[in-house]
Amino acid sequence: MSAPVRPRVTTHALARLRARGEKAVFVTAYDYPTAVRADRAGVDLILVGDSAAMTMMGLPATVAITMDEMAVFVKSVCRAAPRAFVVGDLPFLSYQPADADAVRNAGRFVALGCDAVKCEGGARVAPRVRAMADAGIAVMGHLGLTPQSLGQLGGYRVQGRSRAAVDRLIDDARALEDAGAFALLVEALPPEAAARVRDAVDLLVYGIGAGPHVDGQLVISHDMLGQFVGEIAPRFVKRYADVGADVERAFAAYAAEVRSGAFPAPEHCYPAAPAAD
Ligand code: KIV
Repeated sequence: MSAPVRPRVTTHALARLRARGEKAVFVTAYDYPTAVRADRAGVDLILVGDSAAMTMMGLPATVAITMDEMAVFVKSVCRAAPRAFVVGDLPFLSYQPADADAVRNAGRFVALGCDAVKCEGGARVAPRVRAMADAGIAVMGHLGLTPQSLGQLGGYRVQGRSRAAVDRLIDDARALEDAGAFALLVEALPPEAAARVRDAVDLLVYGIGAGPHVDGQLVISHDMLGQFVGEIAPRFVKRYADVGADVERAFAAYAAEVRSGAFPAPEHCYPAAPAAD
């Protein structure tokens, strides 16, 4: 018996999840095999994050990745995910300079198969969000710890700790809502701050490191799978596998067997004469 075909997740399906009080499951993926597995596992949304700069390319920060590099990751993930809602993350300076840049680059992701795009910032990017929404593109905002503004924020720091800071986040969230965004991602906020933002707007509000009072949880797949090769280890990450250690063990075992002559064994070799047909 074949597995039941589950319908593709849409913005309406995400709104229905929220209305039923069910949490949306959101992970990053950048490559075909990971996205296939996330989709098969029933993940609702996949973010092709510009975190690919760090997770996939070993760069020190997200700002160095280009549209052309992101397009390769986006293309691979969109081909892999028949069910999940795929969000393409607009890289640094692909939308900030002008409305025309935002619409052209977001449109490129949509043409590659994305259901929506994400961009960082609040009121200051609202005109770009309006331009993309007017072009028929679903836009997710991103507030709180926004890695493309790391210099301004002074590093990877928790945001929204004071009442005034949360008031500013709410103003930004409202600006994004007024500009036509359908959803908002909040990153690295105390749970109470995320709850205040969620209650202040009618957007779907997802969180990463923002506690439980949001409409769904995002994690970076490399963090939860134990695949990230780097120094950053955020407090909010829970490890569900140790893929990196498994991969290292496998390479070490292979190296030992090649060096000892244990691999290849007879069963890995082609016979000289094919079996009789
Ligand atoms: O690029 C990304 O993965 C992101 C998350 C850190 C939210 O934007």
